[in-house]
Amino acid sequence: MNTKPTDSSGISFTALYTGAVWHRNGLSDESLSTIQGHWLYSLMSPFEAASKTVAGGNLRTFLLQRHLIIDHLIEEAVTQRGVTQVLEIACGLSPRGIRLRQRFPTLHMVEADLPDMAARKAAKLAQGGYLSPQHQVTPIDILADEGEQTLEAVVERVFDEGGPIVVVTEGLSNYFTLEVIGGFWQRLAAILAKRPGSVYLTDSYLLPTQPVIRGGINVLRRMLGGMTHSQVTIHFDSDAEAQRHLAALGFAEVKVHNPRHYYGRLPIPESRNDPLVRIIESRT
Ligand SMILES: C[S@@+](CC[C@H](N)C(=O)[O-])C[C@H]1O[C@@H](n2cnc3c(N)ncnc32)[C@H](O)[C@@H]1O
Repeated sequence: MNTKPTDSSGISFTALYTGAVWHRNGLSDESLSTIQGHWLYSLMSPFEAASKTVAGGNLRTFLLQRHLIIDHLIEEAVTQRGVTQVLEIACGLSPRGIRLRQRFPTLHMVEADLPDMAARKAAKLAQGGYLSPQHQVTPIDILADEGEQTLEAVVERVFDEGGPIVVVTEGLSNYFTLEVIGGFWQRLAAILAKRPGSVYLTDSYLLPTQPVIRGGINVLRRMLGGMTHSQVTIHFDSDAEAQRHLAALGFAEVKVHNPRHYYGRLPIPESRNDPLVRIIESRT
């Protein structure tokens, strides 16, 4: 039976919350702030405070960990390996494109999301004066198998000059079952294999072993799944399993980054226990 969903737009509102987190932490731009995001931020504050006390970390902790480590790995690709093209899929209201373009003015930045979110992002970037041929927004649907919004069509259209690319998905993969997101990863590996030197960066989560926190996360996972009409899934039990899975889908080199290794090196918050988020860096 084909269990692949056809419409994942129910996930889009979560970008308002992450957008507000980036904004409140001085990472974003006024043009990307939203009233709904500010409301969600206030609404979530008591829950975030309680999680921090009980679990030693909260959503905001891992959001900032993942965001800043991904930024760091992109910067490495640009400064150490000379990559000049970045595709941020499921960009939502991420300010990454603005910051990267300010830091690297010759970078070709393409942000992509479902059509409604892409239109919203493009309008906001235009309002801030950021849109240009070097900084574009385009519609994409990672579930699409045909048409202009497929992964293959987007990469072909926006990076027609060839060359390696950095592809990022942040806050996307865990809204899908491993089978569904695995299909996307396999297609992406095939595309990146044709562009040597390319890299794919994504976030992934582990379930903690502590039973109470584990139970709490499972409740949260089901609630988020219900609210977004998606199948929020924790894909891997360990870093080694993540590594093996992506390797089997066509990525020859897979590195899993634990935020702990960046404490004191990057301005990220620290979790009391082992962080729940990982950043996976994959190459073909
Ligand atoms: C949790 S938000 C993350 C936004 C941003 N990456 C961030 O970290 O702030 C998830 C994003 O995935 C996008 N999305 C959902 N389904 C998608 C799909 N099928 N293809 C591309 N993007 C999708 C949503 O529109 C939303 O912007």
